[in-house]
Amino acid sequence: MDGRDLVRSVKAVGSGGAAGGLRTVRAAWRRRRADATGLPRRGAERARVPGPVRDVEPGPGGGVVRFARTELRVMVAVNGAVFWGWDGVAPEPSYALAGRCPEPDPRALLEPDKDGGWRVVAERVTVVVSRHGAIEVCTPGGVTLRRDLPPRWWEPAGGGGARWMQRAEVAPDARFFGLGGRVGGPRLRDGTYRLWNTDPGRPFGPGDDPLYITMPVQMVVADAGTHLVFHDTSWDGTVTLREGEEGAGSGHDRAGACEVRMDGGPLRCWVMLGTPARVLRVWASLTGVPAVPPAWALGHHHARWGFGSEQEVRRIVAGYSERDLPLDAVHLDIDHLDGHRVFSVDRDRFPKLPVLAEDLRRDGIRLVSIVDPAVKAEPGDPVYDSGHARDAFVRDASGRPVEGVAWPGETVYPDFTHARVREWWGGLYQERLAQGFAGFWHDMNEPVSFTAFGENTLPRSARHALEGRGGDHREAHNVYALCMARAAYEGLRGLVPDQRPFLFSRSGWVGMQRYGGTWSGDVATGWPGLRASLSLVMGLGLCGVPYSGPDVGGFDGSPSPELYLRWLQLAAYLPLFRTHASLRAGRREPWEFGDDVLKHARVALAERRRLLPYFVTLAHLARRTGAPYVRPLWWGAPEDRALRNCEDAFLLGDSLLVAPVLEAGAVRRTVLLPPGRWYDTVTEAVYEGAGHKVVDAPLGRIPVFARAGAVLPVRGADGGLELEVWAPARGRSGGGTVVPDAGDGWEEPEVERYLTRWKGRRVVVRRETDEGRSEPAYPVRVRGLDHA
Ligand code: GLC
Repeated sequence: MDGRDLVRSVKAVGSGGAAGGLRTVRAAWRRRRADATGLPRRGAERARVPGPVRDVEPGPGGGVVRFARTELRVMVAVNGAVFWGWDGVAPEPSYALAGRCPEPDPRALLEPDKDGGWRVVAERVTVVVSRHGAIEVCTPGGVTLRRDLPPRWWEPAGGGGARWMQRAEVAPDARFFGLGGRVGGPRLRDGTYRLWNTDPGRPFGPGDDPLYITMPVQMVVADAGTHLVFHDTSWDGTVTLREGEEGAGSGHDRAGACEVRMDGGPLRCWVMLGTPARVLRVWASLTGVPAVPPAWALGHHHARWGFGSEQEVRRIVAGYSERDLPLDAVHLDIDHLDGHRVFSVDRDRFPKLPVLAEDLRRDGIRLVSIVDPAVKAEPGDPVYDSGHARDAFVRDASGRPVEGVAWPGETVYPDFTHARVREWWGGLYQERLAQGFAGFWHDMNEPVSFTAFGENTLPRSARHALEGRGGDHREAHNVYALCMARAAYEGLRGLVPDQRPFLFSRSGWVGMQRYGGTWSGDVATGWPGLRASLSLVMGLGLCGVPYSGPDVGGFDGSPSPELYLRWLQLAAYLPLFRTHASLRAGRREPWEFGDDVLKHARVALAERRRLLPYFVTLAHLARRTGAPYVRPLWWGAPEDRALRNCEDAFLLGDSLLVAPVLEAGAVRRTVLLPPGRWYDTVTEAVYEGAGHKVVDAPLGRIPVFARAGAVLPVRGADGGLELEVWAPARGRSGGGTVVPDAGDGWEEPEVERYLTRWKGRRVVVRRETDEGRSEPAYPVRVRGLDHA
């Protein structure tokens, strides 16, 4: 944090002014003192490597390979994922796993390899362990996807946890993706990426790394295959990536390189390989299937920091409805709370929230509330009192509750790594439900404690339960928000058993998709922010978190009418579609930008509403298959290098390709189309892929293409479901999947499959069931016929 940030945070906190400043200085000082006494001193360290192999012990799915100074447990699970753990560590306990570790594959056997090494051979993967502890992951055809060199540990001479380092090589043509939400992606360039969830303390721009969600998860895509690798430890660390280079006939190939360094935690790893779709299916089976948002949460959300009153909420909502601008949810920020206190309404300014909520709901609009984890440290505050009575707050090494500084002023922090605390916290959402809120927006949960210098989070020495194992913030920090989401999700399931909770969270970790999604956080207003929005959504999708989106317009400044519109047009095709306004930002409602913007914004909002059934389908498919709604262009063709390098367009499900405008002044752009025929969804003009095409992108729309043969569920003029069919190329066929909305409960709708083909001069569509083919029960509209 630099001087300017300090001034900002001081101004922002609680009563502001000198009192706020003094608080953050005191907090920084307290933090330092706590760490100085509470953390073990790093003294002399002893380096260790595995040493030569000694013997092995076959076991289910693989076995244990013993080295002179450690042992390695290797296990191929029934879902095809490979686990290995050094120093004999097991897959559990783990915050990432959705449940118990999957069963070992009984067919996978440990057998001798050449040069004194060993290998585990399974149906879809071979894992080769060398005599000195290098590990190669190979395809069934024997091609190496990844080679991990023997790891190295540094152990404190007096005992205690070791830090470690692991280097790996991948193919020279491999590209890296993932590591959570990164601004500089989706393809991760050479550099060092930190694994420590961070609130940058100001709107972020290009080069800001890390951000709120970091994950030790890499998706690596190469000609030989795609793999995902996950180092299962929540400690602080770094991943250094360097793409390789091919000699191209005139020199040697240089392998791609990856180096993971961790301050602690077990050295254990999961790897899965196959097509991108298969990799993410296995990943979802391991870390949990994504929660399906209710249909309304796939519509248009509007958030404002500083509505200030119920009247203002009504005025803004009326502004949308009078102008025929679809709106599905309104997000109330921290200012609707009494003194910024969690779970307590400011009754002067929001005296009749339940009535407001009911009135809005009648018009199909839900209310979403912000929930911050920091609790005002003030006896008499009901949340503080009940938490205090239950010993719910994080303590320092000397046993005193850790005090920090957040919006309400001096605060304490629930220890969500304790089941008892999660249960208590989950019950508190009853207060929000009684106020009529239908969804929850978790914020400031890295967690944030403003300090005048150093990091804006809790001291590393702060103690956490870690499910009874005990430990400190170094290990708990990255899973804090994940555990908070779990508390809310499980609480809401108990409080409203017949409804799926709707939850999204600024921070999180591997597995957060089990409870909900996320949004970009405070992205800086500007064209780079628009580009970053896409990078975050794609990167998170490849880490298994399919539901996310940016704050349209950015967090702080006044976007130009053009920037606002281009951002809106992009976000209309992202899973979480949220416009954002705040005290600090200037004009932010579509009608404040002039008539042209208003007209074009209406088109984008209407198109999102029309595509709602498609988004519902994608949400259900994400749950069933792990596939994100928003996919990189290489999703179906990872071996295509041009697609692998393309970052300015994306696939929305199987059927659509979206090419946002990411630059000021552009009214045309180049689009790289994957193989096959594509239709411009507005003009119905035909384009044949693969290849670059220059297309129109007037201010009124961004180019969106439909795949020939696609069958897409859309909302008809009467609100009912319709099938939009894009004519297959002559002599070809096509199809699509529809998962109809079954309401906000837990009912599992049936997956419907449709086929389309030419029959004489007509394009026909049939539903495929086990019993045979039948006429679709919905109206069908075939498009693209004039050009087919
Ligand atoms: C944080 C959030 C932002 C919110 C603000 C006030 O900056 O990221 O969305 O508006 O806090 O609660």
